Order: sequence, then C-alpha cells, then structure tokens
Amino acid sequence: MRCPNGREQRKLDYTLRASIPTEPKGELTLPGAATTITRLGVHEQALTDSIARARRWLVAARRVVVLTGAGCSAESGVPTFRGADGLWRQFRPETLATPEAFARDPKLVWEWYDWRRQRIAEAQPNPGHFALVALEQRLGEGFALFTQNVDGLHERAGNQRVWRLHGDIWLLRCTGCGHQEQNRTTPLPELPPRCGRCGALFRPGVVWFGEPLPADVLQAAFAAARRAEVCLVLGTSSVVYPAALIPRHALEAGARVVEINLEPTELSAQVHLSLRGRTGLLLPRIVQGAE
Ligand code: OAD
Repeated sequence: MRCPNGREQRKLDYTLRASIPTEPKGELTLPGAATTITRLGVHEQALTDSIARARRWLVAARRVVVLTGAGCSAESGVPTFRGADGLWRQFRPETLATPEAFARDPKLVWEWYDWRRQRIAEAQPNPGHFALVALEQRLGEGFALFTQNVDGLHERAGNQRVWRLHGDIWLLRCTGCGHQEQNRTTPLPELPPRCGRCGALFRPGVVWFGEPLPADVLQAAFAAARRAEVCLVLGTSSVVYPAALIPRHALEAGARVVEINLEPTELSAQVHLSLRGRTGLLLPRIVQGAE
C-alpha cells in the first residue's frame, strides 16, 4: 500500500515477536546514515569524545524518546534474556512466554514468573535508572520513556512519563472474569494463583509472544519517536518487535539515535552513536556529566 507521499506504508502489527533471520534486516532506508555512523573503539578517549557528543545532543534537545530493555536492569541484579547470562540461554521462550505454554502447563509458567518476581523484589534501581529521572526532570513534557521491562524499576527510581510495552510482572490478570490486581507477594503462596472472585487461573499481566502489545502505548511510542530530536536506546538487544521499530521511526524522522549496550546489536550499524558499556556507568556521564 502506498501513502499519498509515495512512500510504502507499513502495516502496523502489534504482535510480540522476535525477529527471525529471514526478516529483512534494516527494512527502512536511512539516507545519510552511513556518513554519520560513529563506531567506537575501545580507546577511552574515543569513549569520552562520544559521551561528550551525546551529551551535547541531549543538552540541545527539547524532545527525547527513550527505549529501554533488560540490560538497564542488569546492574540491579535482574537477569537479561539474551545477554551472556540471559534467561533464554537456559529456557526456551515458547515453553514459558506464550499463551500456548500457559495453557499446557500453567504451574511451570508460574514457577518461572514467581522466581523472576523474587529476583526483582530484591532489586533496587541503579545509577542508569536515576540518570533517566534526572533527564525527565530537565525535559518535563519533552521526555517519554518506553520500556520493554516488566519490573517497574523505572517507576521506583522516580520516572513518571513511563509507558510499559510488555506489561507488568506485578499485575495478576484473571483468565476467567478479567479481574486485575496488583500483587507484590513473593513467593506466591499458591502456584498457579487463582482469582479470589471467580476461582479461575490468574495469569501474569505481561505480554507474551504472539500477543498484541497495548495499541495506545505503541502508537504513542511511534509518535514520540517521530517527534524526538534525540532517541536513546538502552540495554536492549533490539531483536524483539514491534518495540525494536521505535528507534527506526526516530531515525527515519531525523532524530539523533544513541545506543548504549555491552555488545553490538542489529541496530548498532544504523545509529549515530553506539556506545559499548554499561548503562549504569555511561548514562550518568552523558546525562549528568558524572565522571
Ligand atoms: P535482551 O536480554 O534481549 O537484551 C538485553 C541487552 O542488554 C543485550 O543486548 C545485552 O548486551 C545488554 N546489556 C546487558 N547488560 C547491560 C548493561 N549493564 N548495560 C547496557 N547493556 C546491557 O532484553 P530485551 O532487549 O529487553 O519479552 O528483550 C526484549 C524482550 O524479549 C523482553 O521484554 C522479553 C524478552 O523475551 C518478554 O518476555 C515478553
């Protein structure tokens, strides 16, 4: 389908999915990106220069959109999915994070979520989270944070303009009557937990593979990305869609895109700055000028 301006219109697909090798890599054309890519060497001077550059962009920006992933919570002790000690190295997503898995074995799925809830309950926000709070305080309405994390650490750190793309691990949703409630008990006394109102099974209030993301949140994310002057992509492997499209919208609309990750990702070659390192270390340097 073509838009009036002649560009291909992409069909909006809200379904949670991991990218597969056959998916066209970098489906958007990014005119000029090749000239602005900065690849970072290991040299500390190069890192310092890149941090200064990102800092200048942020200081000049009035609208900043942020996408975060599990790497942002890693320094708080919450395991990532695909990093070196990532959860998907030990478990298969299709056995634990799909509606089919839950229908097959709700107890097993709940055991996994109950274990993660315990890890998250012990976690505290880290300096990366607090740097994002400082950034929001500076930008006010111009700040928008979209997170794939279900742990709630951004909110606990003090961010207010946070939108959850993949739900909330502290929310229980009844599969029978639809009743929802916040529940922070760890461990849960009974697995799988049941709804006090109708007795049906509760499920975790997260988005599973094959399920749609909240449409209003995703639309808000794409709109914010297209308005932003700077887009920060923090601690995400950028392989899970549709969240991974957010920085691509920002790039297409002309924002400076800065990625922070321990490793190169599928996005790294397309962004303006890809910084290798920990968000808890680099973000405070970029946002607050910390040494
Ligand atoms: P991943 O586990 O896929 O990626 C985490 C990324 O963070 C990796 O690229 C790491 O290199 C990087 N990383 C780890 N520690 C870091 C640190 N201290 N500083 C900077 N980077 C660091 O997590 P997500 O991209 O969030 O969905 O995964 C997306 C979705 O896939 C999750 O929301 C989850 C998962 O399946 C569901 O469970 C529905």
